[in-house]
Amino acid sequence: MTMKRILFVCLGNICRSPLVEAVARAEFLRAGVDAKFASAGTGDYHIGHAADPRTIASAAAHGYDVSAHRARQLTGADFETYDAVLAMDQANLRNIKGVCPTQFVSRVGLFLPYAGIAAPAEVPDPYFGGSDGFERVIELARSGVRGLIARCANDA
Ligand code: 4NP
Repeated sequence: MTMKRILFVCLGNICRSPLVEAVARAEFLRAGVDAKFASAGTGDYHIGHAADPRTIASAAAHGYDVSAHRARQLTGADFETYDAVLAMDQANLRNIKGVCPTQFVSRVGLFLPYAGIAAPAEVPDPYFGGSDGFERVIELARSGVRGLIARCANDA
């Protein structure tokens, strides 16, 4: 069993990456695969804020808990701390690569492809939409996390 440290990154760190983090923490535990998770945003809009109320509600509806989450911004130290820094979409991937020290670029990737899912490659931003967008994030989080579990279990 291998120890992995994985950081999920979106824009605000109040919708997508906290949901994926919560799903990963719960499902890795259930699968008995050892790994550590955190999340961060490329933007600074919501530093210190709780997850969006819609994030908390859709997580809870599926048995996941993000109530303790507080948003933070990606820092340079994250590239040393985490084995994988996984972006929710292409725009965030570009921004992460823009601040990532050259020696750590191989740790940076898109969450869904890294998890073995080629399409869709992105987790769409649900912030400006309705609750169906949050359901879609949960669904993509669950399939991506299944792929990550398989990948981490095989890495052992
Ligand atoms: P997230 O969603 O990146 O999934 O946390 C967003 C949250 C906030 C904003 C955009 C996306 N915003 O523009 O404040």
